[in-house]
Amino acid sequence: MSQAKKTLTITTGLAGKVSGDIIVPGDKSCSHRSIMFGSLAEGITHVSGFLPGDDCLATMNAFKAMGIKIEGPDENQNVVIHGKGLRGLTAPNEALNIGNSGTTIRLMSGLLAGQNFAWQMSGDSSLNKRPMGRVVDPLKLMGADISAAENGTPPVISQGVGEGQTLKAIHYDLPMASAQVKSCVLLAGIYADGITSVTEPGITRDHTERMLTAFGYPVTVEDTAIGKKVSIEGGHKLTACDIQVPGDISSATFFMVAGLIAKEGQLIIRNVGMNPTRIGAINILQQMNGDLSIINERMAGGEPVADVVVKSSQLKGIDINERDVPLAIDEFPAIFIAAACAKGTTRLRGAEELRVKESDRIQAMADGLKELTIDCTVFDDGIDIVGGQLTSGTIHSHDDHRIAMSFAISSLRATGEIKILECDNVATSFPNFVTLANQVGLTLNQA
Ligand code: S3P
Repeated sequence: MSQAKKTLTITTGLAGKVSGDIIVPGDKSCSHRSIMFGSLAEGITHVSGFLPGDDCLATMNAFKAMGIKIEGPDENQNVVIHGKGLRGLTAPNEALNIGNSGTTIRLMSGLLAGQNFAWQMSGDSSLNKRPMGRVVDPLKLMGADISAAENGTPPVISQGVGEGQTLKAIHYDLPMASAQVKSCVLLAGIYADGITSVTEPGITRDHTERMLTAFGYPVTVEDTAIGKKVSIEGGHKLTACDIQVPGDISSATFFMVAGLIAKEGQLIIRNVGMNPTRIGAINILQQMNGDLSIINERMAGGEPVADVVVKSSQLKGIDINERDVPLAIDEFPAIFIAAACAKGTTRLRGAEELRVKESDRIQAMADGLKELTIDCTVFDDGIDIVGGQLTSGTIHSHDDHRIAMSFAISSLRATGEIKILECDNVATSFPNFVTLANQVGLTLNQA
């Protein structure tokens, strides 16, 4: 993990045209899970399309520190994991540092809570401010000896369970629509005695359920009056398999927005993951009048994928449907840029979770948009953005990769240079972002 701060300086592309035929890197959520489940599986798992971002490499290094042999990623993003089964991990020699990755710390807290060794996890200054009570609380209900710092932030510390002991199966109604919390409880459930279940108040990404199934671990999903209920019985085994990671729709969204707000051009983005729990951004951008076509729909590695054709569009402001919020939760920074370029006002509510991401994304985006003279009003759980003319200025990304990439894209419609600070963490999810952006017509400088 690089510690030195860089500054990404962005200048507006002269013609404002965006065109090309591109592939975005592998999905971050699926890449994390492939390492985790491959390590716990019996046999050798082959992963293709792995995301070589800092977050997923942090997950990989954590499992290597617990005795798992992992090869790659090679230049084609293939990874080979020599799984050692559910009881194959060994105690790490030191506290696990998992950098900027919320997914790693939250999913691994569940997966490690039932191990019979002690461990400790923390990360960088941004991660160390994020709430962990949401995973520690249900794990305590399962009998785990686990805690976070007094204010509920990392480090997460566990003494593990005694030799021959297991966690207690529970039913847990998620207090918030979070795939990380859902996954944490389900993964702890693998090490519990009986059936652990989770009900979610809104649809959240289901990669854990899909990939556990691909590894042969039984998972049951049913609809209930309050939401989807997912159940898992402890003590089954995972069997190694081949995982094809789809392109990350979250990374593709920056290019969808770029293609839509560009003054002209057509962009094709290939092999984009189209999991129905992840397509909120497509729904929202299409409702904003965005010309996005989904072609070549197919299945790859248990996940739906497709190619997306994006054409320059005159966007309009909308009231965002609250049902789309968890389905687009990582895409709002980019959607806010689309809103700033749209005609009229875009209103978002029910999105308080944005305040506890890699930064407070409502405030960070509002501050940046105001710097570029876009009129917006902040609410506890959302924002109103009035479309207008983006100007020039200096933006703080607060070490948040998605804030940095969103304002980079906004340069397509700005009247002058935008300077974006604290951009190192772009490498957590999208290491070749600047190269790809320049390939399709933006003019980004990184120094
Ligand atoms: C993720 C779940 C989401 C998302 C994050 C990845 C996952 O977090 O924001 O980038 O892989 O499960 P929440 O569960 O906190 O919404």
